[in-house]
Amino acid sequence: MIGEMRERATGDSGPPPHGGDSEPAGHDPLVAFVRAMPKVELHLHLEGTLEPELMFELARRNGVPLRFATVEEMRGAYDFSALGDFLRLYYEGAAVLQTERDFYDLSRAYLHRAYADGVRHAEVFFDPQTHTARGVAFRDVVSGIHRALVDAEAELGLTSRLIMCFLRDAGVESAAATLTEAMEYRDLLTGVGLDSTEVGYPPELFAGVFATARAAGLRAVAHAGEEGPPEYVRGALDALGAERIDHGVRSLEDPALVRRLVRGRVPLTVCPLSNVRLKVVPDMESHPLRMMLESGLVVTVNSDDPAYFGGYLSDNFRAVQRGLGLDRAQLLTLAANAVEAAFVDEGRRARLRADLDVYAETAPLGAAAPGGHGV
Ligand code: HPA
Ligand code: ZN
Repeated sequence: MIGEMRERATGDSGPPPHGGDSEPAGHDPLVAFVRAMPKVELHLHLEGTLEPELMFELARRNGVPLRFATVEEMRGAYDFSALGDFLRLYYEGAAVLQTERDFYDLSRAYLHRAYADGVRHAEVFFDPQTHTARGVAFRDVVSGIHRALVDAEAELGLTSRLIMCFLRDAGVESAAATLTEAMEYRDLLTGVGLDSTEVGYPPELFAGVFATARAAGLRAVAHAGEEGPPEYVRGALDALGAERIDHGVRSLEDPALVRRLVRGRVPLTVCPLSNVRLKVVPDMESHPLRMMLESGLVVTVNSDDPAYFGGYLSDNFRAVQRGLGLDRAQLLTLAANAVEAAFVDEGRRARLRADLDVYAETAPLGAAAPGGHGV
């Protein structure tokens, strides 16, 4: 089964099995344009890439019972009314991940799939507390993921960074203990983040933990302004020293905050399909991404938890293009913003930027594209 998934990840140019927003590339030049565009992904939870097929395989391998009899039944349950609804299923699903090999297989499946989807650099989150709370060794989690990241760079040239997220609702003491444990693996990590239930857990609670992490040279990001108010975005900047805001869509409610984000060129890692599926916005046509872009915000497009939200990175680009009528230049700006926002050295950034520039100059889809798709 895992072998089958890998084959599909690397060989298939058709839509994902869960039927996202995608179409066969041959029918729409925009689908092919977006998929072939060299892309950087900055907001991706590895646990959120656990497709039901792999979940069943790991459940069988580890003797873990599942509530669902079939893959179809499981996908049928992916109907969420809010973030909390999703998180319950997401943590339940993660229970099949038990060994170093499981984390390797999970990460490898995502990386190969992302590569086939045109991702050239990925900064990925993991939630160690989800696993250590179940008795899985921190070492097995980080080692399995790291091994897959190293292999993907060697085999595919897909570069990556690893960001460890603290679960807000697990509290400050658990976050501090997790950071202490992580220090043994400091060299494998690029940064720390903050995720899980947002409302009721303002960033200020974690100021001390983030200060310790930054003192150790780790970069800081935080989920804020997904379900929480604009004050949480300010808190992430001021109390945590966050260099990027994950989601941040509610920033638009506060014009002074928007001006600050624009002036400071603070990147926002927006996840359109996630926002629709978690009812952060009612539908793609009302998504604020276009307004954010036109306000001068450094907006990027990302897939968050693609196994649960109906699409990988190209599906997210395609969904906003279609829902908001973005043009070719706007799609390229979104991709360029992610290059600017990546935690890479200037050599790698220049290379990613050059690849995107070449693509912009040579990609077939333009104003005079056949078939009337003038983007
Ligand atoms: N928000 C908060 N926590 C999360 C998310 C998200 O979108 N995805 C996985 N953990
Ligand atoms: Zn997220």
